[in-house]
Amino acid sequence: MKISLPNEGIILGIESSCDETSAAILRGRDIASVIISSQHFHTSFGGVVPELASRAHIRSIVPIAEEALAKAGVSAHDITAIAATFAPGLMGALLVGLNFAKGMALSLSVPLIGVHHIEAHIFSAMLEEEKPELPFLALVVSGGHTLLVVVEDIGRYSVIGKTLDDAAGEAFDKVGKMLGMGYPAGPVIDRAAKSGDPTFVKFPRSMMNDETFDFSFSGIKTSVLYYLRDNPGILSTRSADIAASFQQAVVDVLVGKTIRAARERNIRDIVCVGGVSANSLLRSQFKTTCDEQKKRFFSPRPMLSTDNAAMIAMLGALKLDRGISSDLSLSAMARVPL
Ligand code: KG4
Ligand code: ZN
Repeated sequence: MKISLPNEGIILGIESSCDETSAAILRGRDIASVIISSQHFHTSFGGVVPELASRAHIRSIVPIAEEALAKAGVSAHDITAIAATFAPGLMGALLVGLNFAKGMALSLSVPLIGVHHIEAHIFSAMLEEEKPELPFLALVVSGGHTLLVVVEDIGRYSVIGKTLDDAAGEAFDKVGKMLGMGYPAGPVIDRAAKSGDPTFVKFPRSMMNDETFDFSFSGIKTSVLYYLRDNPGILSTRSADIAASFQQAVVDVLVGKTIRAARERNIRDIVCVGGVSANSLLRSQFKTTCDEQKKRFFSPRPMLSTDNAAMIAMLGALKLDRGISSDLSLSAMARVPL
C-alpha cells in the first residue's frame, strides 16, 4: 500500500536530540532546505557531553532556523505547522528544540507535531524519490539503536529484533577509537575500509545464524581488541585491512538477518535508516542481496541517514495529513520505546 503524502503545506522541522542542531523546511512533499550543524563536544572515550550539547543548541537554534527559512525562501508567517523531536535523546538537548518549536507554534498559531526520533528515522526513506510501500521492514542502525521493525502503518510497529548489547554505530565508534580514529568513527572506518582487505581477519559474525532476529556487537568489538593486543604494532601497516575486516563482519550480520526476516515474514520492501545506513558497504551489499532475492531496497541519501530535521518535518507532515498533532503541554522525554 502506498503511503499518502500531502501536496501542500510548509512545515518547519526541528531536531536537537543529541549533538546536532538541525532545521528544515518541507514544502508539500519536497525538501526546500535542510541545515545541520554538528557540534561534537565529546569526552575522551568518545561520548557526547550533555551539558555542552545543550548550551550549543541554545546558541545555534535561532540562527539555524533562520537559515533554513532563508534558504527555502519563506518567511516565518508562511509556515503552516511545526514538527519537533520530543523523544528519545538527551533531556537538556531535547528541551531546547521542543520549547523553541512550542514558542514558534504558539506565536504563529500553527499546529505543533511532536515526533519520536526513531520513528522519524524510519520514515526518512520517504524523503527520496523512490518510496517504500506498506508493510515494510525497517532496519534502524544508529549510534544508540539497532532495531528490526515491521512497519504496518504510521504508528503501527512490531519490533522483531534488537541489539542485546552495543548498537551498531556504537560498535563502529568504539572500534574506531581502538584504531586511533576520531569520533564519530563510522565515516572514518567506511573511508579507510575502501583501501583495505575485508578478508584479512575473520572476525565473528555474532548471532548470524541463531533463530532470533536479535543482534550482538560486543563480541565483534572484543575480538578486534584481542586481535590488536595479540598483534602489537600491526596498526602501523594494516589499519585499513582491520577496519575493512571489522566492517565486513558487521555488514554481513546486518544484511543477513534483515534479509532472512524479510523472507520469513514475506515482506517485499526493506528500508535501512539511521547513521550507520550511510555506510557504503552496507548500502551496496543490501542492494545486491535485495536484487538477488527479488526484494526492493530503500535508504535515504547519506546526508539524510544521520540526524537531520528533514526527517522530522516528513514524519510531521505524514502525521498531520492523518489529523495527528500535539498539545502544547507535550513534554520532552529521554526514553520512550518505539
Ligand atoms: O542516526 P545518527 O546520526 O545519530 C543517532 O541517532 O545515534 O547515528 C550516528 C552513528 C554514529 O555511531 C556514527 O559513527 C555512525 O552513525 N555512522 C556511520 C557512518 N556514518 C555515520 N557508521 C558507519 N559508516 C558510516 N558511513
Ligand atoms: Zn538518530
